[in-house]
Amino acid sequence: MKTYNIGLLPGDGIGPEVAAEGVKVLDAVMTMENFACNYVDYPYSGEYYLKTKELVTDRIIAEWATLDAVFMGAIGHPDVEPGLVERNVILGLRFGLDLYVNLRPIKLYADHMCPLKDKTPADIDFTVIRENTEGLYSQIGGILKKGTPDEVATVTGIYTRLGVERAIRYAFEVALQRAAQNGTTPRLTMVDKANAIRPHDIWTRTFAEVGKEFPNVELDHAYVDACTMWMVKNPEWFDTIVTTNLFGDVITDLGAMLQGGMGIAASGNIHPGKTSMFEPIHGSAPKYAGQNVACPLGAIMAVNMMLDYLGEKSAAARIEQAVAHLLSSGAIPSADARSGLSTTQVGDMVVKAVLEQEAS
Ligand code: IPM
Ligand code: MG
Repeated sequence: MKTYNIGLLPGDGIGPEVAAEGVKVLDAVMTMENFACNYVDYPYSGEYYLKTKELVTDRIIAEWATLDAVFMGAIGHPDVEPGLVERNVILGLRFGLDLYVNLRPIKLYADHMCPLKDKTPADIDFTVIRENTEGLYSQIGGILKKGTPDEVATVTGIYTRLGVERAIRYAFEVALQRAAQNGTTPRLTMVDKANAIRPHDIWTRTFAEVGKEFPNVELDHAYVDACTMWMVKNPEWFDTIVTTNLFGDVITDLGAMLQGGMGIAASGNIHPGKTSMFEPIHGSAPKYAGQNVACPLGAIMAVNMMLDYLGEKSAAARIEQAVAHLLSSGAIPSADARSGLSTTQVGDMVVKAVLEQEAS
């Protein structure tokens, strides 16, 4: 039987609670499909750092590179300097494993979950490809004369031809796959800010050049400010979006709200063919930690994405079908801490819905 080695990084706050539900669903779906998982636990988190002063090292990243995938809960602790563990663990994984694509599907499963008036699941179904290793996240910059009147802070945005092109190529492939699945015409929207930030012209040119190899894909463009406007006004326009690291971070939080909230949005940090990392897009939400109220659907959908990536398409589809059914039927009324259902109840409901599906 095919056995996958999966690194588990439950992390901080609600991370361990939601990750446990993800694993529960993964274990259930495995019993119906012909594969197994061997889990390898990793303690890295803000809490672990406070206790041990230990952070992720190059040796751990090299170890992760030997696994099939890493599944993460959430990282971030209020008592640790802002961003320290997030940069170490999350950016450590993204940069250390060169996970150059951050794949973030924005899909609405039930009308009532959308904050936009009169929008239905037919209107909100698009995928964002966020470049994941460059841009303003490059960590190039710093602060000089900190705390003095002469203080200077700099940050450099890095866009390499290689980095831009590989993200764009991946996005064209996603656009084609989506069109094949949905029976629609593929459209790829490139989102940048090349009017004000002229170096973003590398995105514009690379997009036009690579686009010539994909004559069946409609090439579309929006500046990031207009993109946020269109996402609210006419979300049905979007099919596939490719954008920079920072813009992708921003527009996918907006996208998460369109699909029902941070409690359901999931993402894959991907280097095709290599160990990739899957996580809900929400943070550690310390105020909900330990109360068994956080919504685990983001983590569960991250498992769906991980299985899809590993090639376990039918197992992945089982999870998506179960979640879609529970949300559209109202059995799970919302994807947040106020659904009236506990974290473990939601996990159990997804497990039950998965197990009730007919074995194929
Ligand atoms: C995300 C998060 C991270 C990011 C933070 C925690 C570093 O917001 O995955 O969207 O900015 O990429
Ligand atoms: Mg974010």
